[in-house]
Amino acid sequence: MTQKLLIIGASRGIGLETVRAALAANYSVRAFARNISKITLAHENLEKVSGDALNADHIKRALEGIDVVIQTLGVSVNLQMVTGPINLFSNATRVLVSNMERAKMKRLIAVTGFGSGHDGRRLIPPLQRIGFEIFLGRVYSDKNIQENLIKASSLDWTIVRPGILTSGKTTGDYYILVKPENWRNGLISRADVADFIVKQIDNPTHIKQTPVLVGSFRFPHI
Ligand SMILES: NC(=O)c1ccc[n+]([C@@H]2O[C@H](COP(=O)([O-])OP(=O)(O)OC[C@H]3O[C@@H](n4cnc5c(N)ncnc54)[C@H](OP(=O)(O)O)[C@@H]3O)[C@@H](O)[C@H]2O)c1
Repeated sequence: MTQKLLIIGASRGIGLETVRAALAANYSVRAFARNISKITLAHENLEKVSGDALNADHIKRALEGIDVVIQTLGVSVNLQMVTGPINLFSNATRVLVSNMERAKMKRLIAVTGFGSGHDGRRLIPPLQRIGFEIFLGRVYSDKNIQENLIKASSLDWTIVRPGILTSGKTTGDYYILVKPENWRNGLISRADVADFIVKQIDNPTHIKQTPVLVGSFRFPHI
């Protein structure tokens, strides 16, 4: 039987690309976001659900009948990213993980980013780290809490840490860097991140791993 996916953060970006890729791969998709009117796709296997990832009742309902959950939440680029506080990632993940565990669900694929996690942040090269701390420090501190909540759960999780996102096409030509000594920042299209996520559904080769994803252009390690 076709697996049914819940994509949280499906109205744009990686989430919307994952909706597209999952439908093309014949999965059934429940696309969840606050502004679902932005999802102009129509497909017999696509269900659009409007909801807030911070609302436990919305999430509990969205999880009904779902086999695999994909979390691709993001915050808008604005002054709050720098001045904070940012707690969307941790608060939404608390709601999601507890409801998945209660429902005895297992599979979660969550997107964070290059530099996320205490291991990831430590390995950002010094020059890149200055801008990272100023502009993304608060966002990634909350993503660290998000990752810790996922890692401490009973779920079969994969945490995907893409490099800098572009709006390019699917190429299938990207690096999946699992070992910390290989981690490098670079560019990758949202469509390629979606390609990786969808391939992890039937072929879950990265359970309990935090792969960095980058395309063929990678930054020098300075
Ligand atoms: N930009 C980069 O270079 C970069 C690099 C690495 C990692 N990342 C990370 O990759 C992730 C995806 O980024 P993106 O640019 O592809 O997507 P994005 O444009 O940030 O989209 C975020 C999605 O989250 C949804 N969302 C936000 N708050 C929500 C809430 N309370 N309830 C339900 N849905 C909510 C939004 O939908 P609604 O507003 O309709 O609810 C939207 O669909 C982010 O976590 C980002 O930090 C970005």
